[in-house]
This record gives sequence, structure tokens and C-alpha cells, in this order.
Amino acid sequence: MHLVTLIPGDGIGPEITKAVTDILAAAKAPLSWETENAGQSTFDLSGELIPASLLASLAKTRVGLKGPITTPVGKGFRSVNVTLRQQFDLYQNVRPSKTTPGIATRYEGIDLVLFRENTEGLYSGLEVYDEHHGIADSFNRISKEGCRKICHAAFAYAHKHGRKKVTLAHKANILKMAGTLMLDAGKAAAAEFPHIIYEDKIIDNMCMQLVTRPEQFDVIVTTNLFGDILSDLCAGLVGGLGVVAGANIGDDMAIFEAVHGSAPDIAGQGKANPTALLRSALMMLEHLGEHEIARRIEQALEATLMNKEQCTGDLGGRASTSEFTQSVIGNL
Ligand code: NAI
Ligand code: MG
Repeated sequence: MHLVTLIPGDGIGPEITKAVTDILAAAKAPLSWETENAGQSTFDLSGELIPASLLASLAKTRVGLKGPITTPVGKGFRSVNVTLRQQFDLYQNVRPSKTTPGIATRYEGIDLVLFRENTEGLYSGLEVYDEHHGIADSFNRISKEGCRKICHAAFAYAHKHGRKKVTLAHKANILKMAGTLMLDAGKAAAAEFPHIIYEDKIIDNMCMQLVTRPEQFDVIVTTNLFGDILSDLCAGLVGGLGVVAGANIGDDMAIFEAVHGSAPDIAGQGKANPTALLRSALMMLEHLGEHEIARRIEQALEATLMNKEQCTGDLGGRASTSEFTQSVIGNL
């Protein structure tokens, strides 16, 4: 039995978390949960954004499954997501995007994995506002060690999973210092894995290439902000935010969560697609060595996705979150 910290989150978080834990229970996944919340919901209740009990639970279990958490735009609190990633040094944000049979998209044959640096860059939280001059500075802090770690992780993953190519996306033509640190780290990692093809692309061209010929990409590695933007773009290539999983990974801890946010526009309406969080949970089962159960649930999920009637609205179907969930359980 694996003890996992479960963080339901805000907005659609509790709905999709229930769907996923119901499917995992039906599949008899050997998991037990320690439920702890964070964000708007705990703030409203107790004035705490990230309760000490959540941090203690993660420090003990070393593995979490997390729903999305709302971060107000502009003023208000700092992102809980960014804080958790920095606090536990979860420096890899791993986000696979793959074409799924049954999900109609503009493209076919996409199978890429994005490695987003997860603790530095423009998400360092270093911002100052000079009210007198009306000037805001947001620091893009990048460390040599941070670049080394994320580039090495991307190549090590490519090596382990038999992937052929790593593409580094950057803006070193303009960000001479920060961009060059990343580019140097990419070259050093490539030298360690000479059997893997290495290329780099400037981020603007990368975006164009991703929407014209996405099937050319295999593993992509990039800095925090570029990775955040590219991962939603890549989700759009394979069916949208409702289907793309993610994992925040450190050397001795991992928190699994979907790429999407709390979707306030559909929260509480039974419309949310739990596939993204379910696929994140499957990445968690793989991480825990439960390959057999992960494969069984994946097959059940794929069978449901093949039948549009059983899919949620974002995929062109008419099923509710719970009808979708029951369909996956029925296919187990
Ligand atoms: P969002 O990802 O929540 O939603 C974007 C669009 O995708 C919406 O139309 C939404 O309905 C749809 N969508 C997202 N997930 C879906 C699902 N599972 N099923 C069906 N449709 C889905 O992005 P948005 O609206 O920009 O952000 C909302 C809040 O979420 C913000 O407070 C943001 O800070 C937060 N957020 C949190 C993240 C996290 O906890 N890791 C990640 C991204 C955003
Ligand atoms: Mg994002």
C-alpha cells in the first residue's frame, strides 16, 4: 500500500479528484490517501494558504496527487503551485502530449514530452515596482545549476524511454546571459548522451514549428515561462487541457497534477473532464512501480475515449463528469 497526499484544490478540483479516486478504487490500486487542501478553500476557512499539515504530510509521503489551485491575477496571494514547487525543489515539470485514438484533432502522430524548468526564471517571485517612475521589474533569475539539472533530466528521460531527440527552446539571441546559461547546459547534457540527437530552436520559431509540424518533436526542454506557455499549446494539439497530464518531480519527491487550472467557468456544473488528472494519476502509479494497474486503467480510459457519447463536452460529447467516470469504471 502506498500512502499518498491528496490535494483536491479549487474550482473543478474536487469534482475531478473524486472521479479519479473512484476509478483508482474500482481498479483496486494499492493506494491510501491523506487528504490535505491548500489555496482559496483553506484560506477562506482558516486564513492559511498552505497549511503546515499539508507540508508535513508531503514531507512524510513524498508523493502527492493534486487538483488545480486558483491564483488571483495581480494582487492577492502568491501562487500556491509555485510555492510548493520551490519549497520541495520539484525542478522538473514533465508534461506528455500524445495523440489519442478517438479524440479528433487537427494533427496525427504527435508523441512529445515537455520538460519545463519548474523553480526559477520569471517565476522566481522577484518583482519590484517603482511607484514614483511607474516602472515594474520582474527578474528572470536563472542558475547554472538549475539549467544543468533540467537539461540532464530531459536527456536522462530520453535515454531511459528510448526517445531519439531533444529540442531545447530558448531566447538566447535576446536574453544573452540567461538564455546562454540554458544553451550551454543543453550542449553539456547532449555531450553526455551522444546517441540522442540534440537541436535548439529560438522560442518564436519553436511556436511556429509546433503548430505547423508538431510530429517532428520528441522531447522538448525549456525554461519556466516558455514551458508554461508551450505546455498549453501542446495540450491544444492533442485534444485540449482536459486530457493532458503532468508531474512535478524532484530528486526525492513528486507531485502529480494536470496541466490545466481550476476552470472557474465550468466549476460545480459536472462538466469537467477528469482525463487529465486521471492520466496524472497513471504517471504516479508508474512512479510508484504499479505498472500493471496503470496499464489496465489506461486501457479502460482509452475505450471510453473511443466512444464520443461517453465523453465530456470539451471533447464534443455530452456526458457529465460522473457518467464519464462510470464509463471508465465499467470498462475496467
Ligand atoms: P484553466 O486551465 O483553468 O481553463 C482554461 C480553459 O480550459 C477553460 O475554458 C476551462 O473550462 C477549460 N478546461 C480546463 N480544464 C478542463 C477540464 N478538465 N475539462 C474541461 N475543460 C477544461 O485556465 P485559466 O482559466 O486561465 O485559469 C483558472 C485558474 O486556474 C487561475 O486562477 C489560474 O491561476 C489557475 N491555474 C492553476 C494551475 C494549477 O493549479 N496547477 C495551472 C493553471 C492555472
Ligand atoms: Mg500553465
